[in-house]
Amino acid sequence: MWNLEPLDHLPKPALYHQLAVALSHLLHGERDFLANAANTAALLFHTLPDLNWVGLYRWIEPELVLGPFQGKPACVRIPLGRGVCGTAAAQRKTVVVPDVHAFPGHIACDPASRSEIVIPLLVGTQLIGVWDMDSPKPHRFDETDRLGLERLMQILLHASWPDPVPLPEPRPLTEAPPHPHTRPGP
Ligand code: SME
Repeated sequence: MWNLEPLDHLPKPALYHQLAVALSHLLHGERDFLANAANTAALLFHTLPDLNWVGLYRWIEPELVLGPFQGKPACVRIPLGRGVCGTAAAQRKTVVVPDVHAFPGHIACDPASRSEIVIPLLVGTQLIGVWDMDSPKPHRFDETDRLGLERLMQILLHASWPDPVPLPEPRPLTEAPPHPHTRPGP
């Protein structure tokens, strides 16, 4: 059982160090990405202060699709290049938005959100999805948050894809691979 408490009494570097240790333990031995993303969302939502939404959008070509999260129900599909999530996915770069009202094209799922950070999730060169976090406080996410959260996302990705090799590109199956017990022909 995990006894989760807000860690807002700690300075940010110590807070992110503790979270990195906690997340590594939480995900240890489990490779299922959606299960790991669900537990990551729960851990961050219950320990980091001033958040109203934390979770995953998966890249399912040609768009982002809602995955495990904590917070209010959210929009399900986001096209590449749209909103903060689609922008981070298209640029493959973390996007920090101090004031969502000043971000052209921001998609408002929860009207309480005032600032946001979105981190692209990459395995090798392959886009897996984006990690989205919203706050009801303007200017909630600074450079220390960006670095700390990017490190946590590396832990999430490494738990699910421990080998540092890119995933194979999806390709149509043309024929079934030979069964291992099939005897070779004459
Ligand atoms: N605000 C996001 C949409 C997702 S919700 O915040 C959960 C965006 O602009 O892409």
